[in-house]
Amino acid sequence: MVVNDFDFVAPIYDRLSKLVFGKSLIKAQAYHLKVIGDKDRVLILGGGTGKLLEFIPKSGELDFVEMSHRMLDRAKRKKFHRSINLIHTDFLEFNTDKKYDVIICPFFLDCFEIQGLTKVIAKIRSQLKPDGKLIITDFERSNINSFILKIMLIFFKLFSKLETNRLLDIRAILKENGFNESETSFYKKGIFSALYYQVGKRKQ
Ligand SMILES: C[S@@+](CC[C@H](N)C(=O)[O-])C[C@H]1O[C@@H](n2cnc3c(N)ncnc32)[C@H](O)[C@@H]1O
Repeated sequence: MVVNDFDFVAPIYDRLSKLVFGKSLIKAQAYHLKVIGDKDRVLILGGGTGKLLEFIPKSGELDFVEMSHRMLDRAKRKKFHRSINLIHTDFLEFNTDKKYDVIICPFFLDCFEIQGLTKVIAKIRSQLKPDGKLIITDFERSNINSFILKIMLIFFKLFSKLETNRLLDIRAILKENGFNESETSFYKKGIFSALYYQVGKRKQ
């Protein structure tokens, strides 16, 4: 069965998410992007309609992996100051020898159940340079309003066949799977943004 199929919701996704979560969504996604160096090779996972792109500073090569072709069509229409490789694939099937300096997951990890999430994190580790940076923006399970969470899960289960029925403790799972959190900021409505390095690999 196909899961995490965001094609149906793509036309309304940005308006709907802004209506429910307001500016916190984009403020949180933009916060850690300042760590990107001007020669860094960057990978964005599940970038949706690409609303994050205008906040990406000058960098090296930029790859944008997205599974929904309707999300990707919208990202293609975004005006962006430089070239970007828009890649239509399931990240778990993304085939490349490239290693990235920075990997960005904007509300991407919350799509997965624990087995899927563990595989995604292992693949992120295999694509990240040893001292590379991982930027996660997502929902904090202990801070999000339980009613909003329930409605959101039902909605995306129904219209996007979301893989998971629950919000996992993403920060704890990243720690269990080889990442150290170095800086975290919190936003309204249970949103967090955090910067991670692989355990023992951070350059001083
Ligand atoms: C919750 S949406 C977030 C979209 C966007 N990052 C934002 O914040 O507006 C999750 C996105 O991840 C994409 N996605 C889900 N599973 C994926 C996978 N296995 N590989 C690539 N993209 C995936 C979906 O198509 C969707 O666009």
